[in-house]
Order: sequence, then structure tokens, then C-alpha cells
Amino acid sequence: MRCLSAWAALLLAFAAIPASAVQVLQPFDDSRDPPTWRPLTDAEQAQHELGLTVFNTSWRPAGAARAGRIDGLGPVFNAASCDACHNNGARARTTVEPGLIPVSMVVQLGGPDGKAADPSYGQVLNTAAIDGFQPEAQVRLSYVERRGRYPDGRPWSLRAPTYRFDELRLGPLRSDTVIKPRLAPALFGSGLLDAVPASAVASDDSAAGRFGWQGNVPSLAAQTAQAFAQDMGLTSADFAQDDCGAADARCRAAQSGGEPEVSDDFLTAVIAYQRLLAVPASPPLDASSEQAGLVLFERHGCASCHRGSLPVSGIEGLASIAPYTDLRRHDLGPGLADRNVSGKIQPSRWRTAPLWGLGYAVRRPPYALLHDGRARSIEEALLWHDGEAASARRRFERSTVAERNRLLDWLSAR
Ligand code: HEC
Ligand code: HEC
Repeated sequence: MRCLSAWAALLLAFAAIPASAVQVLQPFDDSRDPPTWRPLTDAEQAQHELGLTVFNTSWRPAGAARAGRIDGLGPVFNAASCDACHNNGARARTTVEPGLIPVSMVVQLGGPDGKAADPSYGQVLNTAAIDGFQPEAQVRLSYVERRGRYPDGRPWSLRAPTYRFDELRLGPLRSDTVIKPRLAPALFGSGLLDAVPASAVASDDSAAGRFGWQGNVPSLAAQTAQAFAQDMGLTSADFAQDDCGAADARCRAAQSGGEPEVSDDFLTAVIAYQRLLAVPASPPLDASSEQAGLVLFERHGCASCHRGSLPVSGIEGLASIAPYTDLRRHDLGPGLADRNVSGKIQPSRWRTAPLWGLGYAVRRPPYALLHDGRARSIEEALLWHDGEAASARRRFERSTVAERNRLLDWLSAR
């Protein structure tokens, strides 16, 4: 009975939110408490606060004193909280420099067929461990600088990364294991990307999902459970195995923090929390700069992938969003492709990176662009575009310096 009336109250409160109150882009006045894209009911507010708390929680090893319901971290992991990588929901707040990779960069491992994990190390090379265990490895990166010139003679410079693995606890990686370095993306607007109907993204691409840099994870819920398991070593009802490799018996036998380690209410709350996060708005450009930038963006062919409008379904008061992505996967050429341990290029398809919220990252350095953070600026990110995006890049390169700057300014205001 009590339960029923609470439900009725929730429905009433929900009905009281006017559809016009939906606002996807919002100023982020306090980065520590990002706004939601619609007002919340009281019940939602409580769940939102729980979700935020779970997001910020540093999980503890199984059996830790007074760890209550937040134990089970590891035994191997990358970071102890979601927030350590997705700072207040934002993309990794770091540059990616030569030396040890930042915490918010995760090296995933792929089998030669693109699916099976490494038998010793699992899906993710975990660079941290709880007391009594050792990390799987340490990853160092170095760059080779590539210099070139625009057709008008102005110079540019890009950095191509290579990765080195030290202290590999269970022996060398197989030479055909694919190295997949990935920097933590922003979570803003994830719930809205989740609400784009499959029919609007459908393609003949069998590996297609919509989350992750390769768009290979089907939903926000799946991505969250996978993050708990693979990046933090925490099991949940949706993902019952943490990331011990099949051959790592000691890791598999480690003490558990409960069955599952992340309880259902925590998992549900952190998913609900992300689902409602708005996208940071940038200060508007003057009307003529806005128009001129958009014309170039369209004329160069950027908008064919970075689509300015996608439909959403199931959200009252919102028919479409402007994420600047088609949520599809594209081959951007060998320069951006993953490589295996012996250096062989693996043809790779990437989800068109959403450009909404880009200005927020650029206004709050440090930041890094592209899936592995190699690009130090928006300009560098554009110059890496090749493969299916080669002609768009060439049109950018051939435009005048004034036009290039106009487009870059426009992009920094997304
Ligand atoms: C060690 C760093 C790290 C931790 C901890 C981490 N993530 Fe991530 N997250 C990443 C990386 C890296 C990616 C990109 C993965 C990929 O491209 O396959 C990602 C991707 C995501 C995405 C997909 C976003 C998109 O648009 O594609 C979501 C959602 C997400 N993480 C949520 C979470 C949540 C919730 C937690 C905590 C339970 C969490 N993450 C913990 C690093 C991390
Ligand atoms: C064929 C599809 C395609 C076209 C055309 C294209 N892009 Fe992209 N864009 C992508 C993909 C895919 C990525 C992610 C690549 C990666 O991370 O390795 C990306 C990444 C980016 C990024 C970095 C975003 C981030 O979060 O790191 C920017 C900025 C960008 N594109 C702008 C442009 C502009 C401007 C144009 C036109 C000159 C353009 N793109 C044309 C597919 C495309």
C-alpha cells in the first residue's frame, strides 16, 4: 500500500514537470555538480544524489574495515572510482605526455579476431592492484613527431604514439594481441545518445553499439557494468566476472566483496545519474561567426559524420538532439588505427566522436583529443582525419588561414 502511494506520488510529480523544461545544453556554473537536462522529481532527486555518491565513491578492497557496501575493489584495477577517470562527468582532465600513461587512460587488449581477450591479462591491462597483489603491468608511451605544411606553407606538427609494457606480471603479451589505448570520454548527454532509436543509427555493421570510442557497447547500462568490472574489478548483477585473465588463478581466487560486489540499487542509481546529465553549453558566438563556421563545417563534409541532428524517442518535450555525431563507425585510416604487439596495423572503425560539449573541455585545460589523447588541439584532431574522412580534412587544409580559424573557433564554441 505504502509502495503504491509512493508510486502514485511519483507519477503526479512527474506529470508536473512541463515538457518545455527540457534543456539539453546548459551552462555548467559549478563543475562539481553538473546540471540535469530536465528538472527532477523528489524521488528522482534522491536517486540522483545516491548516483552521484556512487560515482564519486572510492571503492575499497574486499573485507576492508568499515567498508560496508563499498568493498570488492580489484584485486587488479585501474582506478577506484568512476570520478577518477571521468572527472565530474567530464572527459579525462589531462594531457597525454611521454612516460607513464595517465590513470584515466585504459589500455584494452583485443584478440586477433577482434573479440577474445588475452588469456593472461583479460580485456583490460590493469595497472593498479590492492595490497597483496601486483598490477598486471605498467604502460609507457613515447611519440614520434610528424611535421608537415598546409598548402599555404604554414607548418603543423602531429605526434604518433607507441606503447611499451614493463613489469608484465604474467609474461609477455602475445605478439598478435591488439593494443587499444583509450582515454576516458565525457559522460554528458549519454542518456540522450542512449535514447536515439536504433533505426536512426542502423547499419550493416554487426559490431555496432553506440558507446565507447569504437561504438561497440550497446547501452549506457552495459557500459557502466563493464566499467565496474573491467576498470575497477567490481562485479554486478549485469557483469558477474571481474577482469582476471583466464590463466590468472590467484586473481580469480581473490576474496570477493559480496555477490555481487556492486548492489543493484547502487548500479541503478549511477546509471540513472548519468542518464540525466545535461551537456555543457558554450558562450554563444556572434550570429555571423556562428553562421560562417557552420557553412564551413557543412561545406567541408564534416556534418556528414558529425550530424547536427539526430532523433530521440521516449522523451517528452524532446524530438531531436544536436550531438554532432551519427553514432556510426568509420575507418579513419591507418594513422589512427590500433596496432598489435608486433606493430601490425589493425583496420579500426571509430564512432564519430560527439562534438557537443567540446568547448567545455577546451575552456578547462588540461585536455586531450581523439581516442588516445594524442591530439593537443582541435586543429591536430582534424589533421589526423584520414580514410573515410580524408576529403573533409583536405578541404580544411586547402581553405584559407582565416577560414581555418573561423572553423576552429566555431568548434571551440560547441
Ligand atoms: C580507469 C579509468 C575509468 C574508470 C574508473 C571508469 N571509466 Fe568509464 N570510460 C573510461 C574509458 C577509457 C572509456 C572509453 C572506453 C572505450 O572507448 O572502449 C570509458 C567510457 C565510458 C562510457 C561511455 C561514454 C561514451 O560516450 O562512449 C561511460 C558511460 C562510462 N565510461 C561510465 C563509467 C562509469 C559509470 C564508471 C564507474 C562505474 C566508469 N566509467 C569508470 C575510463 C574509465
Ligand atoms: C567519415 C566520418 C568523419 C568525417 C567526415 C569527419 N569526422 Fe571528425 N571524427 C570522426 C571520428 C570517427 C572521430 C573519432 C576518431 C578517433 O578518436 O580516433 C572524429 C573526431 C573528431 C574530433 C575530436 C573529438 C574528440 O572528442 O576528441 C573533432 C574535433 C572532429 N572530429 C572534427 C571534425 C571536423 C571539423 C570535420 C570536418 C573537417 C570532421 N571531423 C570530419 C569522424 C569524422
